Amino acid sequence: MPDDSLSQTYSSETMRLLHNRVSVRKYTDQPVTNEAIEAVLRAAFRAPTSSNIQAYTVVVVRNPETLAKLAVVTGNQRHVAVAPVFLAFCADMTRIEHAMKKRGHSLDDNNLEVGLVSSVDAALVGMAASLAAESIGLQGLMIGAVRNNVLATAEILGLPKRVYCLFGMCLGWPAEHPTQKPRIDIGATVHYERYDQAAAVAALDAYDAALAAHYEATGRPTTPDSWTHDMDKKFHARLRDKLREQLSTQGFDFR
Ligand SMILES: Cc1cc2nc3c(=O)[nH]c(=O)nc-3n(C[C@H](O)[C@H](O)[C@H](O)COP(=O)(O)O)c2cc1C
Repeated sequence: MPDDSLSQTYSSETMRLLHNRVSVRKYTDQPVTNEAIEAVLRAAFRAPTSSNIQAYTVVVVRNPETLAKLAVVTGNQRHVAVAPVFLAFCADMTRIEHAMKKRGHSLDDNNLEVGLVSSVDAALVGMAASLAAESIGLQGLMIGAVRNNVLATAEILGLPKRVYCLFGMCLGWPAEHPTQKPRIDIGATVHYERYDQAAAVAALDAYDAALAAHYEATGRPTTPDSWTHDMDKKFHARLRDKLREQLSTQGFDFR
């Protein structure tokens, strides 16, 4: 069934919200109240959480000096410095550690699974918060560059051991309406019953062309093999090579 008829048959506010979402990097001066943020986060905390661990914490940042420091860590991203509010979504094992200590146990010998479940928990809350925020007209974008330096971000936010910031989120009332980036064709990203290796990459040439056309139309420099070029550029060097060591210092064993 083509896209249009699918969205007519299966339509809802949530579907429309998701189909229209786009990252927004410019915000008006209109303040975003703590009430609005609390409403968004209360909704987001209804996200499912592995074994009910609720291993997440959100630090709400508005102080311009703190935002300026976060902007530096994140590679001088201007939208971080000027965002009306920045939410730091953190994986947080302190409450689990507290429970274990009360029962005479220790989290010192934690392993990859503990790091993963807390990170997945925090990510689910982050996406739920993004949707909740958009449903009341706020827009923004996630900021993974807080992991450029896990320890510097932790220092800025006062995060203790067993807490690290997985990603941040700039939020505000939108002052721009960017054209949506095309996505890879669903034939490549959805497989039925079994993974289809050929299908997974079959759509990429067409996607390169579609993304190049999008960037050309929106005035951003690109190459004819746009996505392929960008992915190779991003991943051919080892990324954030100190990450594992820094996460270990924060009390997460990702060995
Ligand atoms: C976990 C995560 C981290 C991201 N980090 C950044 C970032 O540091 N800076 C930025 O400008 N965009 C960041 N983005 C936004 C992506 O670049 C954006 O979602 C992607 O290019 C697709 O564009 P769209 O959201 O407008 O569809 C991040 C997105 C995610 C999901």
